[in-house]
Amino acid sequence: MTPVTEATPALKLSERINRIKPSATMAVVAEADKLRQQGVDVVDFGAGEPHFSTPQHIKDAAISAIQNNFSKYTAVGGTAELRDAIVHRHAVDFDSDYRREETMASVGGKHALFNAIQVLVDHGDEVILPVPYWVSFNDIVRYAGGNCVLLETDEADGFRITAEMVARLVTPRTKLIILNSPSNPSGAVMSPEDIAAVVRMAAERGIWVLSDECYVYLNYTDRRFSVGSLREQRERLVIIGSLSKTYAMTGWRLGYALAPAPVISAMQKLQSQSTSNPTSIVQKAAVTALKGPQECVEEMRLEYIKLRDHVVGGLRALPGVKCNLPEGAFYVYPNISAYFGRSGVNSAADFAGKLLRESHVAAVPGEGFGTRDHIRISYATSQAELDRGLERMRRFLASL
Ligand SMILES: Cc1ncc(COP(=O)(O)O)c(C=O)c1O
Repeated sequence: MTPVTEATPALKLSERINRIKPSATMAVVAEADKLRQQGVDVVDFGAGEPHFSTPQHIKDAAISAIQNNFSKYTAVGGTAELRDAIVHRHAVDFDSDYRREETMASVGGKHALFNAIQVLVDHGDEVILPVPYWVSFNDIVRYAGGNCVLLETDEADGFRITAEMVARLVTPRTKLIILNSPSNPSGAVMSPEDIAAVVRMAAERGIWVLSDECYVYLNYTDRRFSVGSLREQRERLVIIGSLSKTYAMTGWRLGYALAPAPVISAMQKLQSQSTSNPTSIVQKAAVTALKGPQECVEEMRLEYIKLRDHVVGGLRALPGVKCNLPEGAFYVYPNISAYFGRSGVNSAADFAGKLLRESHVAAVPGEGFGTRDHIRISYATSQAELDRGLERMRRFLASL
């Protein structure tokens, strides 16, 4: 083996890969895992995934696919059966009217998002991204060579995004606007009126809207809404969906896109040169998820509402912590800036780092989502675990 010496030439990785950073959420998960391996009892509010198990009928469909040898390559964008199931579910739930050629399945919603951004965004293009944003949007746009133009929002106004706010950032280079309602990390939900106004404004200017609807079924306002119902503007819309959160299937990796056929066709071309089809067995399970009974989705939604109310009540009872009531997803985004300047804590990253190291509670610092004053807490866990974490936080804050 060649010894590594001072003379060893530095690794010459691509300029492209050096533009992006690893996901901030994954970093917290890794740090919490390390502590756990050392035997530390960590309360984990970091991971962004349901604590529920995948419903039994979906698991059974996968087992039966294995037993029936459904184990060959499929079409790159998924079987016709799966694409029809995606279109059908969306039409029933959101009054959309997509065709099979206007959808494709990918290896998770993140993969669909990655493909969509790579085929739409060119070097120098601008992408309007509301703050706070999910960690991956920024990096995926940068990987494509684009620049994110950040749209600041007001916490006191529920992080609201209006068409006027977006329009102020539009330039001749604007290619795309990203919406994510319900939002990761804030849980904020845009009203259907605000969404429609943004989409109309964008369509008038020939700008694409990419709507990440991975949490669309976890909407607690009783006004569940997808841009897919805005049929007149469909020529400029890309919808990203996922089975991960809706059916508690994060590890299965099945997401999808709904978009005009030329966009889907370009995304399939890219996918054909990377992963090819999502796992055949998972596709069978996904058909069952989408076409089978939907009660499981509502049961989980109602449970998340209870957990949300519990954790928000607990956080608001902590001195100095401000916390909006999230209307969707399974995150709360409390403002902890009242503690800056105490015991060496001067940022959300300092706060989250100290909270993990000293009180063994994992939460994601806001910097990864574009804000300095918050931490993200995932409440997709049991009420008992929420209580354990809240009690540790109470003692931690008292110690600062
Ligand atoms: C806003 C948002 N979009 C997309 C995804 C991707 O989910 P998946 O790749 O598991 O479908 C996530 C996951 O956390 C998310 O929070």
